[in-house]
Amino acid sequence: MDATSQRLLMCRPTYFAVDYAINPWMDPSAPVDAALAVRQWEQLRQTYLDLGHTVEEITPVPGLPDMVFAANGGTVIDGRAMAVQFRDPQRADEAPAYRAWFEAAGFEIYDPKHVNEGEGDVLLAGDHLLAGTGFRTAHAAHAQLQEVFGYPVITMQLVDPRFYHLDTALTVLDERTVAYLPEAFSPGSQAVLRRLFPDAVHATMADAEVLGLNAVSDGRHVVLPAQATDLAAKLRDRGYETIGVDLSELRKAGGGPKCCTLRLRQGKASK
Ligand code: ARG
Repeated sequence: MDATSQRLLMCRPTYFAVDYAINPWMDPSAPVDAALAVRQWEQLRQTYLDLGHTVEEITPVPGLPDMVFAANGGTVIDGRAMAVQFRDPQRADEAPAYRAWFEAAGFEIYDPKHVNEGEGDVLLAGDHLLAGTGFRTAHAAHAQLQEVFGYPVITMQLVDPRFYHLDTALTVLDERTVAYLPEAFSPGSQAVLRRLFPDAVHATMADAEVLGLNAVSDGRHVVLPAQATDLAAKLRDRGYETIGVDLSELRKAGGGPKCCTLRLRQGKASK
């Protein structure tokens, strides 16, 4: 399997905290070790550098504790950056910060007309855009994504509040294959996934409960939470190299490796 070198955007968790609850993982009364969160994040960043990826950083903004979750900052494909609109007011001010970064980096900007939480809910799988809805990104946003990017958009109906973003329930492994938790999707969406990806890896609830599906693949190496041991074994059986990372502090906000990582797809050649 060939690895693709990726250009990634990350945001250091300098101001990370869990002081509101907008998903079932978040408990503002539980302690969070912010310094440990930074160290774990640095290990993730170093993992990407060791794999030969390029990591760019956006400056964190005080008062935006979830800004570390760069996947929610936009969707960037073929040099076009679609900015985001958050469902929850607590995260609203992240959107202009990421939009400004994309603009300064020279991407063509598109503004969202509906709630759209970026790569948290929008995953490019081969020539299809898989788009989640049910908790965050509005169904109406899917039509706009199709217009902006020109990829057929496949709506994925999420049904379990613990797996509120598509990237908590499904990982794109390469152009042809995904891994996912079937029970995180409606029956119709499960049928669509079986049709599109007959060879998909099915994850277990135990893997999903440690956010194991919140993984980043370059087509050969899969960076995933170290606790997702069953999933890692299944991926190795399929010929992928797995790299476990511990992001236990960030999981207290409901995020894992993929949430911390936004793929910047410059042009067609590097898609
Ligand atoms: N606390 C954040 C939220 O609920 C976590 C976001 C995780 N990001 C992701 N791409 N799944 O919005």
